[in-house]
Amino acid sequence: MEFYGQQVVLITGCSQGGIGHALARAFADEGCLVVATSRSLSSMADLEDDPRFFLQELDVVSEESVIQVVSTVLDTYGRVDVVVNNAGVPCVAPLAEIPLSTLQHTFDTNVYGSMRLIQAVIPHMASRRKGKIVNVGSVTVLSPGPWAGAYTASKAALQALSDSLRLELKPFGIDVITVVPGAIKSNIGNSGLAGYNKMPEWKLYKPFEAAIRARATASQGPKSTPSEEFAKKTVSAILKKNPPAWFSYGHLSLVFAILYHLPIFIRDFVLRKAMKL
Ligand SMILES: NC(=O)c1ccc[n+]([C@@H]2O[C@H](COP(=O)([O-])OP(=O)(O)OC[C@H]3O[C@@H](n4cnc5c(N)ncnc54)[C@H](OP(=O)(O)O)[C@@H]3O)[C@@H](O)[C@H]2O)c1
Repeated sequence: MEFYGQQVVLITGCSQGGIGHALARAFADEGCLVVATSRSLSSMADLEDDPRFFLQELDVVSEESVIQVVSTVLDTYGRVDVVVNNAGVPCVAPLAEIPLSTLQHTFDTNVYGSMRLIQAVIPHMASRRKGKIVNVGSVTVLSPGPWAGAYTASKAALQALSDSLRLELKPFGIDVITVVPGAIKSNIGNSGLAGYNKMPEWKLYKPFEAAIRARATASQGPKSTPSEEFAKKTVSAILKKNPPAWFSYGHLSLVFAILYHLPIFIRDFVLRKAMKL
């Protein structure tokens, strides 16, 4: 495998059909050497015979798994240039009744999972005074609505961590980029429904059952942006010599940016209508 002179990019959550997989392909198309990771190698089977990819199993909730993959990559290539914290779980439930273990799991994956990998690569990147850390947030943070509060709060936490990290890591030559997808075609709807089917029966919120369930697939409408299109634009922003601190792209990203700037009472009115409350 040729890797001299190529940028080594490590991405989490690269299962086929999702954003991570599309990002992996887009980085490879730009000549990068991609360490594509996911919880199971079988979910990336289509990348197996392509020499541009080095496939590894990585579960972001396991510190052991994170440390092992980072050390394997450093042993193999001697460096990691870009790390993309893409792995994430959706979570749909009313906050008054969400099992706290589910809320914790959402944060463990989306927030602490990213921090595990960030802390594992910083010593290496700081020693080279070079590197890029990319954290995948969500447009929902700009206007948090009902039913996805746990997910949105986890992404808000990740985006806030990104902002502080960008300043703290500047002296060490490390760039931190927040990538904010709009509604992008992926497996997130199926994953959201699978998680939702494990929820307890709602008490207060039983009358809202249909609207809550529908939230799980809200990002997967006919106008959702194809993951390949999102990935191409995102990779081109990340690979810039001076990458942006914030990159948002995809269906509904403009709508959410507008909602963010509206007075809260108007935003609440719009969201209550949209989410049938
Ligand atoms: N699609 C959208 O509209 C949208 C909008 C805003 C933000 N996002 C964010 O974009 C990122 C990618 O999501 P997606 O839309 O591509 O959804 P997806 O198709 O469901 O992909 C999520 C990926 O994360 C992986 N993952 C989940 N838990 C993990 C863990 N503990 N360790 C390692 N990997 C884990 C999944 O693995 P498995 O296949 O094993 O489950 C899958 O590969 C997520 O952070 C998501 O929150 C997506």
